[in-house]
Amino acid sequence: MQQAKASIARARRPVSFSGAGLSAESGIATFRGQGDSLWSQYDPMRLASEEGFRANPELVMDWYAARRSTLAAASPHAGHHALVQQTSWVHVTQNVDDLLERAGAPPDSVLHLHGSLLSDRCLLTCGYEQAVDLADPPGLRQCPQCAAPLRPTVVWFGEHLPEDTWTAARAAVQQCDLLLVVGTSAAVYPAAGLIELARENGAEILIANTDDAAAIDKRDVFVHGPAAKVLPQLFSGD
Ligand code: OAD
Repeated sequence: MQQAKASIARARRPVSFSGAGLSAESGIATFRGQGDSLWSQYDPMRLASEEGFRANPELVMDWYAARRSTLAAASPHAGHHALVQQTSWVHVTQNVDDLLERAGAPPDSVLHLHGSLLSDRCLLTCGYEQAVDLADPPGLRQCPQCAAPLRPTVVWFGEHLPEDTWTAARAAVQQCDLLLVVGTSAAVYPAAGLIELARENGAEILIANTDDAAAIDKRDVFVHGPAAKVLPQLFSGD
């Protein structure tokens, strides 16, 4: 912990890179690992791919409605708050929730590599997008512009990351001197490649995770523990 705090104190261009573990203690399920993780219960290709959506759009929208309801009832925890209080940091996340924003991150300041549960968009190319009320999530509905189905504005398997967001995240990571990697299995590319990109550019890597297996490189600093506890400690003045 002391080594990690010293790294943070030294950093001039710090970036955070978070995954599902960041929001786990807010009641948002992770994808891998524990027994109740999403991909241990559900087939990602049925629920998080365009192919799966085309095969059964009602099923996919019902699953997203359940995830949206869960998010509506969730609140950011002390770890989200500690992170967004670092206003000079760039925050890059794989999470499709808005808990960093609800903890106080300015709108559009968080780079959401995998999109957001907060809106739907046209499945086709007409460009229509509509905000979603998380507390009253929609089922399957048609695009008012072109009558194609609407789908969540998230990145599914086999899809490209949003180009502007990915470009901004890569640029921040290429320039950073510290990358704080919190709550991610680093299993999904290209997002996970940001860690190697930071390392190649000489940044220190600080990993905060509940799983020791997340410490993959001896050069990295590893802090074991849950995000809600560890992040406030990392940023406290003691
Ligand atoms: P994963 O579910 O793959 O990994 C969650 C990580 O968080 C694991 O390393 C856990 O050990 C760790 N963890 C769990 N609880 C924690 C806690 N309380 N504090 C700190 N760490 C904790 O989630 P991601 O790495 O985010 O993609 O998954 C990456 C992508 O895979 C997701 O964005 C999603 C998924 O398929 C898309 O939907 C495109």
